Amino acid sequence: MERTCKNTELTLADVGKNVTLVGWVAKRRNLGSLLFIDLRDRSGIIQVVVNEGTNVPDVRNEYVISVKGTVCKKETPNKNLKTGDIEIVADSIEVFSKAKTTPMMIQDDTDALEDTRLKYRYLDLRRPCLQQNLMKRAHIVRIAHDYFDKNDFIEVETPCLILSTPEGARDYIVPSRISHGSFYALPQSPQLFKQLLMIGGMERYYQIARCFRDEDLRQDRQPEFTQIDLEMSFLDQDQILTIMEGFLKRVFKEVINVDIVTPLRRMDYSEAVNVYGSDKPDTRFGMHLFDVKDILEKSEFNGYHGVDSIKAIVVPNVANTFSRKIIDSLNVEAKKFSLPGLGIFKVHGNKLDGSLTKFLNDDLEKQLLDKSDAKENDVIIVASGKLDRVNFCLGALRSKYGHELGYVKPNTYDLLWVVNFPLFEKNEDGSYSPLHHPFTRPTPETAQYLYTDPSKVLSAAYDIVINGYEAGGGSLRIYDEDMQKQIFKILGFSQEDIARKFGYFVNAFDYGTPPHGGIAFGLERLSMIICGTDNIRDVIAFPKNLKAACPMSNAPQPVDQAQLDDLGIEIKK
Ligand code: AMO
Repeated sequence: MERTCKNTELTLADVGKNVTLVGWVAKRRNLGSLLFIDLRDRSGIIQVVVNEGTNVPDVRNEYVISVKGTVCKKETPNKNLKTGDIEIVADSIEVFSKAKTTPMMIQDDTDALEDTRLKYRYLDLRRPCLQQNLMKRAHIVRIAHDYFDKNDFIEVETPCLILSTPEGARDYIVPSRISHGSFYALPQSPQLFKQLLMIGGMERYYQIARCFRDEDLRQDRQPEFTQIDLEMSFLDQDQILTIMEGFLKRVFKEVINVDIVTPLRRMDYSEAVNVYGSDKPDTRFGMHLFDVKDILEKSEFNGYHGVDSIKAIVVPNVANTFSRKIIDSLNVEAKKFSLPGLGIFKVHGNKLDGSLTKFLNDDLEKQLLDKSDAKENDVIIVASGKLDRVNFCLGALRSKYGHELGYVKPNTYDLLWVVNFPLFEKNEDGSYSPLHHPFTRPTPETAQYLYTDPSKVLSAAYDIVINGYEAGGGSLRIYDEDMQKQIFKILGFSQEDIARKFGYFVNAFDYGTPPHGGIAFGLERLSMIICGTDNIRDVIAFPKNLKAACPMSNAPQPVDQAQLDDLGIEIKK
């Protein structure tokens, strides 16, 4: 097929050339004697002019056509188009295929509902912004292949029909036709396989791995997603993080021309949650959490007596607009964190104003004002209760106001490692669960507490946090049997559990295990940050909606009775 170049490869330097271009009709304007066509290909749009008397077939929006013509200088350049200095004066047009009227406008700012866009995703994908996003995503993958190949990593594929991995979400399961009543799980990640690759002597592995997790969806979560997954032997934590920083540096530089200064900052988990109220802090703005227990526990408000923690944030310059309705909505937010409610103190004329102010004497009022450093028209939001809940609730409010009040500037990036997580999470019933997975290594300084107080054990785990997103996470792994046994004991796994769930994995450790560790980047999260979107579906060609369904194909659907019979499955009514 004849095509001399892509639309946006043409510039003023090409004026006078005869070209053949292809693409979709993005727009058509008929000005009587002249017909203007915006021709769109993957590279972008160029204007085609058909002069009176040139015999061309009828073309409509989204027809696929080929245009033969001459590159001409435009008298009045169009500043909005990359090719705005030139236009193609058509000699002839060939129509490859016609198009019905599309159910949505094909342009960057569309008002089509997301479900319509997902139903007609192949049309949505013609929008330049989505094409740009997918190109950036592909660019990240290209860099990953190049960078990790140059750093001596071997790309290895691992299976998708597997025994469940302990990543903490619900599995998608696949019934076996050959063994009725038995099921494979789809991998939540290649975690166990990549560790087995280390035992298998691969030393440095990577894979662009599809992962599947049946969990509640959010703006940055999909049931199937992709990890840039890595595992390495004989490297310590610093060496691993340095290699990963090199990768991120290249991604930011080569895809969006942003220079990242390395080594990146490392922040302890305890600082992240205590100061920012999040294990993935957005450190591009302040509004830090601070402790006010020493002040408010002396107030006469019963709710502040005998509580684990009382902390606050200051939201600047909003007191005048802080209505009853807003306060009610914040209290609803607090309930989501199992907190009874929030204390709201407005600052007016160097005094506090709010329903709880009456419980504070002048001295306490002054102490609260001084400690918070709040100014006229600021609001101090106070949360009280269990420390974790207080931190995470205030963290959520900090993030909300940080964005709403414009403290987060677009196209700014802050990357940091969060380190020294607790190894275990204590459940309400006193039992322990792994915060990451049961094969995460404790830090050398805290491993001793495995035998005395597991709540004090920190893990050699690290998350890469970018602009408040967890873009990746990993850890050093356990490679000695005694430590692994003790951790299984703390987690309450019986010998039968271990044998059934991952006996094959634990057995492998008996045959010579190298010290190893790894990480997985969420490719979609990284792409979202690089593309400047907060919607994960903007960086996936065919995503699921919030009900984990595909509005285009209507998956999931019931299957034929014959298929169920084959699998020995009966559906409960
Ligand atoms: P983790 O569970 O932290 O670690 O996942 C690694 C990264 O994958 C991304 N991610 C997701 N992205 C989109 N949708 C989801 N549902 C989703 N879940 C996770 C995040 C996250 O940081 N095996 C370990 C890694 C390791 O220890 O090496 C793991 O999977 O960006």
